[in-house]
Amino acid sequence: MSDSVDRPDEESAPASGPDIRRLADWDADRLHELASEFETPLYVLDPQRIRENCRRLQRAFPAAEIQYAAKAHTGRTTLETVHDEGLDVECASAGEVRRALAAGVPGADVTYTAVNPPAGDLDDFVDAWAENPGLTVTAGAADTLDRLADREFDGRLRLRINPGVGAGHHEKVVTGGHPKFGVGLDRAPDLAESAAARFEFAGIHAHAGSGISGEGLDDHRELVRRMGELARTLDNRGLSVETVDVGGGFGVPYREDAPPLDLDAVAGATREALGETDATLAIEPGRYVVADAGLLLTRVNTVKETPESVVAGVDAGMTTLLRPALYDAYHAVRNLQAPPASRETVGVTVAGPVCETADLLCENRPLPRPEREDLLAVGNAGAYGYEMTSTYNSRPRPAEVTVDGELLRRRERLADVTRAERPPSEANGFRARDPDTDR
Ligand SMILES: Cc1ncc(COP(=O)(O)O)c(C=O)c1O
Repeated sequence: MSDSVDRPDEESAPASGPDIRRLADWDADRLHELASEFETPLYVLDPQRIRENCRRLQRAFPAAEIQYAAKAHTGRTTLETVHDEGLDVECASAGEVRRALAAGVPGADVTYTAVNPPAGDLDDFVDAWAENPGLTVTAGAADTLDRLADREFDGRLRLRINPGVGAGHHEKVVTGGHPKFGVGLDRAPDLAESAAARFEFAGIHAHAGSGISGEGLDDHRELVRRMGELARTLDNRGLSVETVDVGGGFGVPYREDAPPLDLDAVAGATREALGETDATLAIEPGRYVVADAGLLLTRVNTVKETPESVVAGVDAGMTTLLRPALYDAYHAVRNLQAPPASRETVGVTVAGPVCETADLLCENRPLPRPEREDLLAVGNAGAYGYEMTSTYNSRPRPAEVTVDGELLRRRERLADVTRAERPPSEANGFRARDPDTDR
């Protein structure tokens, strides 16, 4: 943690807000104003809610190193806000490291979790480290240690462990136990010794997966228990373990009636599972920090009655919010147009403009009967929302604003999509588009 950050004392403790902000809690009038001013599809972010989420994490884990997992939302405002609240930043690429540093996060508060790092990432990370020697890298293969040593890196390094157990909201996000991630518990002590001989050994790391709640919390606890045991094994071998990083993954309720995570209970269980150790506990929450701080606004353009449901065609889809298509993820949808009693409730399928069956934001969901031009809000879109957008079908990315109306990222134009492409042949008579002026 940065020394320069003031910690709130109990007396003047700033607001940490409710455990979850539901989609129904957002002010519909304000969202209408934003949609009128900035058009749709539009991401809306509330930095104050990011602050509240940071504060609840700090209260539940007062002695832990809390690193925001930047991959959930790497926007400059988000990085500046979490840093201002005293969180460190965990990065998934050299690009994220650069963006964290550019947002003013000191190198000593930035960790790069290198998963099969491309050579360019390692080169760039080592260059950044030369200027910011406090940077930490987390490596999960003996080969990655060698590749770092080849680049004359001898700075702070955590060893990523494969703890043999994982958890998550979908099989595609369970990382703990998958051979792709980390070195096995049996090989870890020898490799940690080898790492300590070559680098500044900064501890051990494991990540169970993403979106953990319910029974998955038992698996997370087991991961923490195994990591605590490993820390004691290393300690017995005379290796000083500075940090035991047990990753991120705290779930948030996506369904309107799902209860929020009992963060204090999770924190208590985590400390208990870790057991006796001098090492500092570290966590890496991403989703928990930003999910309910963001939503997506989209407008209905086409309404179609079908025997199965009413299909509401909208201007957002899998290129705007990928989670439903990728993970069958549930996101709450609210029709901001309709006073609840004025329209009958029907089964509504909210479908995007991409010619793929997966391009649905929800299917046959009980919602007010939609009409053309209705404004819909999609909840919990702050995490892995904008971050996973794509330009598939030549769809420029949406704009992003704060709930107060500050433009965080302008809407892309077609010229942004084609910016890196070779210019058109002069022979065909086309003029190169200007990304700053052309639509
Ligand atoms: C290494 C690591 N740490 C932290 C996270 C953050 O997970 P979440 O956003 O579920 O908290 C991830 C996400 O996949 C991750 O891979």
